[in-house]
Amino acid sequence: MQTLEIQRRFLEYFQRNGHTVVPSASLISQDPTVLFTIAGMAPFKPYFLGQQTPPWPRATSVQKVLRTLDIENVGQTTRHCTFFQMAGNFSFGDYFKAGAITHAWTLITSSVEDGGLGFDPERIWVTVYKNDDEAIRLWEEIAGLPAERIQRRGGEDNYWDMGVPGPGGPCSEIYYDRGPEYGLPGGPVADEDRYIEIWNLVFMQDVRGEDSPKYDFPPVGSLPEKNIDTGMGVERVAFLLQGVDNVYETDLMRPFIATAEQLSGRTYGENHTDDVRFRVIADHVRSAALVIADGVTPSNEGRGYVLRRLIRRVIRSIRLLGVTEPVMATLLTQVRDLLGPIYTDLATDFDRILRVAVAEEDSFRKTLESGSKLFTDAAAQTTAAGSSAVSGSTAFALHDTYGFPLDLTLEMADEVGLSVDVAGFKRLMDEQKARARADAKARKGGFADQHVYRELLELGATEFTGYDELTSEGTIRGLIADGERIPAAKAGDIVEVVLDRTSLYAEAGGQDSDAGQILGSGLSAEVLDVQKIARKLWVHQVRVTEGELTEGASVITAVDAANRARANQAHSATHLVNAALRELLGPDALQAGSYNKPGYLRLDFTWSGGLSGSARAEIEAAANRAITDNLAVTTSLSTVAEAKARGAVALFGEVYGDVVRVVEIGGPWSLELCGGTHVARSSEVGSLVLLGESSVGSGVRRVESYVGFDAFNHLAAERALLENLTGLLKVPSKELPSRVAGLVERLKTAEKELAAMRAAAVLSSAGSLVDGAQRLGDVELVAAALPSGTSAGDLRALAGDVKGRLGGRPAVVALFGEVDGTVPFVVAVTDAALATGLKAGELVKAFLPDIQGRGGGRPELAQGSGTNAAGTDDALASLRVTLGGSNG
Ligand code: ALA
Repeated sequence: MQTLEIQRRFLEYFQRNGHTVVPSASLISQDPTVLFTIAGMAPFKPYFLGQQTPPWPRATSVQKVLRTLDIENVGQTTRHCTFFQMAGNFSFGDYFKAGAITHAWTLITSSVEDGGLGFDPERIWVTVYKNDDEAIRLWEEIAGLPAERIQRRGGEDNYWDMGVPGPGGPCSEIYYDRGPEYGLPGGPVADEDRYIEIWNLVFMQDVRGEDSPKYDFPPVGSLPEKNIDTGMGVERVAFLLQGVDNVYETDLMRPFIATAEQLSGRTYGENHTDDVRFRVIADHVRSAALVIADGVTPSNEGRGYVLRRLIRRVIRSIRLLGVTEPVMATLLTQVRDLLGPIYTDLATDFDRILRVAVAEEDSFRKTLESGSKLFTDAAAQTTAAGSSAVSGSTAFALHDTYGFPLDLTLEMADEVGLSVDVAGFKRLMDEQKARARADAKARKGGFADQHVYRELLELGATEFTGYDELTSEGTIRGLIADGERIPAAKAGDIVEVVLDRTSLYAEAGGQDSDAGQILGSGLSAEVLDVQKIARKLWVHQVRVTEGELTEGASVITAVDAANRARANQAHSATHLVNAALRELLGPDALQAGSYNKPGYLRLDFTWSGGLSGSARAEIEAAANRAITDNLAVTTSLSTVAEAKARGAVALFGEVYGDVVRVVEIGGPWSLELCGGTHVARSSEVGSLVLLGESSVGSGVRRVESYVGFDAFNHLAAERALLENLTGLLKVPSKELPSRVAGLVERLKTAEKELAAMRAAAVLSSAGSLVDGAQRLGDVELVAAALPSGTSAGDLRALAGDVKGRLGGRPAVVALFGEVDGTVPFVVAVTDAALATGLKAGELVKAFLPDIQGRGGGRPELAQGSGTNAAGTDDALASLRVTLGGSNG
């Protein structure tokens, strides 16, 4: 049965049984405690916790899931994927254990003709939580399972929670027995490769605290209702129903292996090492594409780092299969073709996805190249030092600086017959990890602090009032210092403040946070920064300036109005520039990031190649036209689907059904999903000056602008500069270009004339140089240090002339020049001197150290150049000594 058909049957079954089909939420978690959506239940967490009322009592979904904890297992086992699809049914206080078991049993064991999955009931085993007698009884009654195929397991296997405080509950897992040829008898407790887990039924009833009941800590509370959360691994069911050996060989994964076979010329199934590589490619390329589709770009932290790792592991794996050409475009096209029918963004956003992935591939390939050089040098040094093991520090440097995974280094070492000091490498890695942990602890708002925010989040979200009012009344919900709650903060302290309501804008959507104050009777605090946690909690970093802030105190948040007005200008202007860009360049110019603060904005967008001066001018003109057109700026609320249908570009995955804020300027001309603050009409922006345009990484360009009064100030400063120049050059500004061009031209001509005159002067000195010849032993020396500006060419010409004038006399001519701090030199030896055995090429060696020079040549003529102009006199002295004369 095809994967798509499995999904279809699942949703259809539960829809038939009163469940609302809910589309998959984004892979990007809206929950601050995890980076990615790790289970089908994740979008429903607030319903389980009773924080929000579920719109339906029963739901079903096939959710995109990403789990990277087990990334090293991918390809090694039959069943580990980073990206997979979790089919689930959910009951919010509706049916409980009996319902969950009935539904699961019916769907898996009903025949294919009857719309089921057609698993043989005789091969089904289940596990239950150690003391869950009720579940055992229900399995016996509902499914007729014999007692020996129901096994009890401890919390580690049969208690499920999200790995962080929140909802949880005992669970019951359903396994399929692949048969004795796949492993040991004895059920799931004996062998999880023979008995494959296909479905987990979680009886969601507890609230877990910092420590999980998984490890025998008691739950800290009960959920308001008894709920059901289940997860069926679609890829696993596909693997069992398609009669293949593992998830990687299913219909939506095996084709990637086939492509890798074609690219590499190697065959899957021949040896385990290569097979793991094939499977890693198949798994990771899907994950990477879907993560990019949901708006992540590669970076060195958080989600971006996970993505970077996925892409790099694909490239490394294919490289280890012997393919050195780029592969991402080929593989991603295949992801689009195979998964696009399920996740339509893969097709509609394909160009962007491809650009992001290919840019990362390009940069990693460059990395590999430079890393390979470093490796080759290190290998050569290792061999030269008589060792056979590349040092741990080299392997670490390759990893740290060039992103080389250890196994790539091992592979490269192996290719040249060397080993690697793996223990040394691991030691350095551990040291680095310890540093990183210490770092994270020390960082403000770092991971270590998250539990405090979670605790405050449980009290409810912060209400943001700042769209409508600049001052608001609120209550202090919590004060945080060094990641811990504190009861009070006094004057001089810098602390974080969480309020139930605030008018202060938190940095988001590229807009910097508001400046302002928190005031109360006898107290005031200056707001330094405002950040949003999980899009719900406003965390104000403040310096207390007067009195004492205490938890529970009533306060007023006061936005600095002038600052906000300028922030509004900058943010609206950002939309104007974005719209102008798209108008001029088309939809391919996709916003890739932005930042704005009072007076300034920058906008990054995908585009290959720079913008011409005229394109820049047009964008600037279009934005300013929109400003003078006094367009209305309107905000409205709409669903993601509606907004997208109207052409809004939503890069960051919103949750299905989410209500989003749409900001329009001049109707659909500029339509963006945006939570920022804006002017009411475009003319309030005042004016906008584009500062220029530059590259920020491959395929991404950046424009920067001043807006409002800052734009005026910028132009005023430019005008002052211009006045300065017209004053200096004494021409009207219009004539400045031709005047400057004329001056440059005259300067060039003058320089040429000067050079010619200098060369003539140097050449004309030949006669006097010959007159000054000095006898040293058997030969004469004609030596001179010529004036600055004398080039190597001048020296050669002069030396030739001098030599000619010396005729048959045995002589050495040594001339030094100077150009830009370097010392060109020429040494010539006449025929008569050659006969005495002198060689120019040998003579220069006498003075090279004096001028820190390099050079050499034939017996009759040698030349070169030095870098120490101050050593010319010493050089002449050295030459005299060599020729046998005195050092005078
Ligand atoms: N939430 C449960 C899981 O992820 C179903 O396994």
